[in-house]
Amino acid sequence: MNQPVMGGVAAVNAPAFVKHQKLINWVAEIAALTKPDRIYWCDGSQEEYDRLCAEMVAAGTMKKLNQEKRPNSYLACSDPSDVARVEDRTFICSQDKLDAGPTNNWTDPAEMRKTLHGLFDGCMRGRTLYVVPFSMGPLGSPIAHIGVELSDSPYVAVNMRIMTRMGKAVYDVLGTDGEFVPCVHSVGAPLAAGQKDVAWPCNSTKYIVHYPETREIWSFGSGYGGNALLGKKCFALRIASTMGRDEGWLAEHMLILGVESPAGKKHYVAAAFPSACGKTNFAMLIPPATMGGWKVTTIGDDIAWIKPGEDGRLYAINPEAGYFGVAPGTNEKTNFNCMASLRANTIFTNVALTDDGDVWWEGMTKEAPAHLIDWQGKDWTPAIAKESGRKAAHPNARFTVAATQNPVIDSAWDDPAGVPISAFIFGGRRSTTVPLVTEARNWVEGVYMAATMGSETTAAAVGQQGVVRRDPFAMLPFAGYNMSDYFQHWLNIGKKIAASPAELPKIYCVNWFRTDADGKFVWPGFGDNMRVLKWMLERIEDPQGIRVGGVEHIFGVSPRFEDLQWDGLEFSRAQFDTITSIDKAAWAQEVVLHTELFDKLKHHLPKELEAVKAKLEKQLA
Ligand code: OXD
Ligand code: MN
Repeated sequence: MNQPVMGGVAAVNAPAFVKHQKLINWVAEIAALTKPDRIYWCDGSQEEYDRLCAEMVAAGTMKKLNQEKRPNSYLACSDPSDVARVEDRTFICSQDKLDAGPTNNWTDPAEMRKTLHGLFDGCMRGRTLYVVPFSMGPLGSPIAHIGVELSDSPYVAVNMRIMTRMGKAVYDVLGTDGEFVPCVHSVGAPLAAGQKDVAWPCNSTKYIVHYPETREIWSFGSGYGGNALLGKKCFALRIASTMGRDEGWLAEHMLILGVESPAGKKHYVAAAFPSACGKTNFAMLIPPATMGGWKVTTIGDDIAWIKPGEDGRLYAINPEAGYFGVAPGTNEKTNFNCMASLRANTIFTNVALTDDGDVWWEGMTKEAPAHLIDWQGKDWTPAIAKESGRKAAHPNARFTVAATQNPVIDSAWDDPAGVPISAFIFGGRRSTTVPLVTEARNWVEGVYMAATMGSETTAAAVGQQGVVRRDPFAMLPFAGYNMSDYFQHWLNIGKKIAASPAELPKIYCVNWFRTDADGKFVWPGFGDNMRVLKWMLERIEDPQGIRVGGVEHIFGVSPRFEDLQWDGLEFSRAQFDTITSIDKAAWAQEVVLHTELFDKLKHHLPKELEAVKAKLEKQLA
């Protein structure tokens, strides 16, 4: 780590539009600890965004892309050691270790505070502390919550402007004494007097820390994604899930989409998939024209806050205002709407730079350009790639773009009341065992499906890729409290809806990723996922399954070949069997993994879930 310089305390100088004395005092307290050279209060204006970006261009942190090809867009390339979420450095510091549960890293909060106090002391020397006020959810919505992030990274400030409702208006909602979640972030790289900065400052020591009882977030050492944009995973999932547990609502790692039938009937569904498993693609899918007029619109692509309404139904909002999506693999065919969203006003991180000042990543076009500067600033050609295997873009390269640039944004995406949810979908990345789609017979079995979900790991987190791990509800890295209590919370929500006049949303488990003997994906996915979505929605409209068929198996109900619409797609019965067959031996092994998970989670594990497992075991025996 660099040696901090000695210096005075920066003046807090809160602007007149900030009327919240507790907030001003807290900024002063954090500044006294971290000792920045300057404090800057963000107002969220376009002028401010442009200015901060220009400063980062001058400092070498970002490059401005070709204004003709990609107007008002930038490329940032991170330090090669700071490219993804660091799950093993992420901590839930509840008073009681049992409240964090066995799936989270835990340290006693008093001990963690001591450690962090040492690390944060003087960590912003030579830098500016940006005060970033943001609302998760529409400003002033009863479902929304406010946070303030203090960060020494201008990259964080500009990304937060895209990802959240960030700026001056937040102070109007906060007033003189409104509640906010305090978020402290430092890249952990103080500058000595006269020391030249690097393009992407960070620290090899990293801590992403949550104190659920006091609803605080402290992040040190990383400038990347979910480690640093604290509104996203830290607040909207880890802290919000504990708020939801205490207050009777849900904070979930789910996209929300609207889907309208050719007859004009609209439903909203929320779908949980682990990181980098295609949530953005699913949220923006274009139904095949041959299916006759289905429409999909986006509410959100990553996170849902879901609260019971007065009518007993569940209403969801997207707490975010932008998309921080995985670039590699995205192209006009896999996600046309996403590519259209990225035509301007976008920050790209860790993609490659073309010779004409635009961006490129693996999978963007069939043929790679003849020459690129890769994400690490090195020359790259297809020949170099062939020889060395070096990627032009990092596999976890991202784009940050405002939701309003999405051509299929749902008209209700910003509705403070949220949208009613008709179904929940859970999907892992599994090359074997799990069928294309299964409908749970009831809420408890649906919760079991979600709780025992397995998925192959991706580049979104540091660590080995492609290993199957249990990822309950796609929330393994994001649940802010004990996973068994979280399961119980879902069961309780189900009981509450069942006791109301409202219908329980149906629960489905999907798997787009089964492979054939050659390791190739069998299901075409992307737009063709509409075929599966249609089957689900028709089942919702026809709960007894009189018109829309399916076949019951050990795990639930799946469609037969004839139950899906195939117009416009050549897909054989044999292919269908490959991705829907239930291999009893594989399931017997799968259930052993469920048992391992349940053994790990035995403290407070709901009895109802054990009963579902016992039933499954009996059927398999
Ligand atoms: C994300 C993730 O960035 O899940 O959304 O990692
Ligand atoms: Mn995510």
